[in-house]
Amino acid sequence: MEKKVGILYGIGVGPGDPELITLKAARVLNRVELVYAAASTKNSYSLALSIAKPHIPDLTPVKMLYFPMTRNQSEKEKAWAAHAKTIIRELEKGKKIAFITLGDSMTYSTYGYVLKYVRELAPRFPVLSVPGITSYQAAAACLNTPLVEGEDSLLVTSGAKGGDRLRGLDEKPESVVFLKAYRNIGDIAAAVREAGVYRFAAGISNCGQAGEKIYRDIQALCDRRPDYWTLILAKKNDATP
Ligand SMILES: C[S@@+](CC[C@H](N)C(=O)[O-])C[C@H]1O[C@@H](n2cnc3c(N)ncnc32)[C@H](O)[C@@H]1O
Repeated sequence: MEKKVGILYGIGVGPGDPELITLKAARVLNRVELVYAAASTKNSYSLALSIAKPHIPDLTPVKMLYFPMTRNQSEKEKAWAAHAKTIIRELEKGKKIAFITLGDSMTYSTYGYVLKYVRELAPRFPVLSVPGITSYQAAAACLNTPLVEGEDSLLVTSGAKGGDRLRGLDEKPESVVFLKAYRNIGDIAAAVREAGVYRFAAGISNCGQAGEKIYRDIQALCDRRPDYWTLILAKKNDATP
């Protein structure tokens, strides 16, 4: 009998709305033999899992992989390597495995880090990454505003260090998206304002999820502490096409 070969699927399940998972993601989830979901060491809840759950057969085992929420690089590397080894042990048994993450699997995703280690430590295993709809695509749709048009360019950046990524650009892009904006919302709003070219700036929290909130005035967002699932979209053009 032919030996089963393990395969890893990295699946982006979309940003929150359960209808924004792709047909491909749903089909793969329906036939894998094991599902891993990422969670923080501080909180065992996985939003990605709640989205994927209806597509995972009851008998398919689901396991959590805990990632520390820390700025300590060596602690993070340790977790990525350990989780990659856990996945590789299952791949060696010939299993089809899914690793699910929120939004797109290749956009600011733990999957990217774990994948790097799986590739390094066990390059013989095939990997298939399934893209998902990103949070900022969902946000633009939710605001009914195009992200980019014609010759426009778009900056997608982390806001974990505030607004400096935008300040550092001599030529400001037509559109800018800050993910991971929650801790530095005040500085990001200030950088958008200082740029002096953005006629439209909105914040969205929990896009497509329960508790979705749209802030068409980002100052209003600064006055409260937005939660982790918050992004900022600013555009030189007006919001409406
Ligand atoms: C680690 S990144 C993950 C990005 C994700 N892989 C994607 O494709 O959008 C987490 C950040 O994405 C943004 N985010 C993800 N889902 C969101 C949602 N439903 N509403 C608003 N922001 C969201 C927030 O800025 C959050 O801090």
